Order: sequence, then C-alpha cells, then structure tokens
Amino acid sequence: MNIVVTNLKGGVGKTTTTVYLAAVASSRGHNPVLVVDADRQASAAEWLEERPLDGVEIVEAPSERTLARAMRSDEGTVLVDLPPGDERLVQAAIGLADAVVIPTRAGGVEFARVAYTLELIPAKTPRGIVITAARLGTNDLTETIDWWKSEDVPIWGVVPERVGIAAGPEARLYREGLDEYGDVLRRVLRSRRAN
Ligand SMILES: Nc1ncnc2c1ncn2[C@@H]1O[C@H](COP(=O)(O)OP(=O)(O)OP(=O)(O)O)[C@@H](O)[C@H]1O
Ligand SMILES: [Mg+2]
Repeated sequence: MNIVVTNLKGGVGKTTTTVYLAAVASSRGHNPVLVVDADRQASAAEWLEERPLDGVEIVEAPSERTLARAMRSDEGTVLVDLPPGDERLVQAAIGLADAVVIPTRAGGVEFARVAYTLELIPAKTPRGIVITAARLGTNDLTETIDWWKSEDVPIWGVVPERVGIAAGPEARLYREGLDEYGDVLRRVLRSRRAN
C-alpha cells in the first residue's frame, strides 16, 4: 500500500507526519515498512539515519523515475515524503497512491494550497487532512475543521503543537504524537477498505 504525504506548501509537517506514520505502521506489524524520501533535502532520510526505527527501511528517490520504481515495490506499507512546490513529482506520486495524507497548519491562508493539492488527486483515491502543530481551543483550529467538513474532505487527524514533536530527530518520538498518528493510520486504512 502506497501512502503519499503531500502538500505543495512547505513547512506544514509532511516529514514529521511521514516519520510518525512509519513508526506506528511498523509497531503494528505492517512489515515491511518503507519510507520513500522524494525530497532532495532528504530530511526524512537524515532523521531515520540519526534515529533508526525498528522495521523501517528508507530509500531516497528524488526523481520521477526513482520514485515510481520505489513505489512499485508492491509489498508492505510504503510512505512517501515529498518536497514542497514540485508539482510534477507530487503528481507522479499521487498517481501511484492508494491514499493521500495532506498535512496542513490551521488558518484560512492555508486553504488555497490544500485545495490546489486536492485537485491533483484522482476522484477515487482516498484522501484526508491532518492538521499539524494545532493549538487546541483556538478559533483558527475550529474554523479550519469546519471548513474542511463543509467541503466534504475528511479530517484524519489533529496533532497538537508539542515541543516533543518539534524536536524531530533530536529526541525520541513523542508518545502523544505516536498516539495521534496511530489514529491517523487507522483512518487511512479504513478509507482504503471502504473504497
Ligand atoms: N505537532 C507538532 N508540534 C510542534 N511542531 C511541529 C509539529 N509538527 C511539525 N512540527 C514542526 O514544524 C516544522 C515543519 O515540519 P516538517 O519539517 O515536518 O514540515 P515539511 O512539510 O516536511 O517541511 P518541508 O516543506 O520543508 O519539507 C518542523 O520544525 C517540525 O518540527
Ligand atoms: Mg519535509
């Protein structure tokens, strides 16, 4: 199963989401778990080199050709982390996706970029939004949730803003993040079964 994590906007939590989803997939026995890092910055690859996760392999695939090859592995769970802005590469990944996870921050300025990313997804491919670094109890968060509900786009998770998650590879994965991303993974898998 190919799970593509993307948003054309930068700095919205794509890499963080990819690494946490890989960790929960592996801890639930979805072996093998492969992280495909299609970003030349290789932040996911560097993270996992610094902090390897049991049962999680990493491959760097920063071109359409290498990406397509990595995504055809056909075995286990594949999580794809993409760079911001590269529409062609994003489109290639989305074309091979079984589900698309779109991380976004809360706030109205984010809607347009998410809407644009959504337009690239084939009608039948399950997709959902994960609101990252969320400030619970704020109007921004409520408005964002209400907006995507009104647009009929499922919200697969709301991950609170936590120093322990912001630490990235500097620290071990944060318990609360693992719990929330565990729920996200469940929704991804359910969406696929329902499809
Ligand atoms: N739940 C969270 N709480 C606090 N900080 C977070 C959370 N999720 C992500 N961040 C922080 O937000 C920043 C951007 O996250 P990340 O690098 O995952 O985004 P990205 O979309 O992959 O960025 P890029 O477009 O540059 O690849 C990082 O500093 C990360 O630690
Ligand atoms: Mg990234």
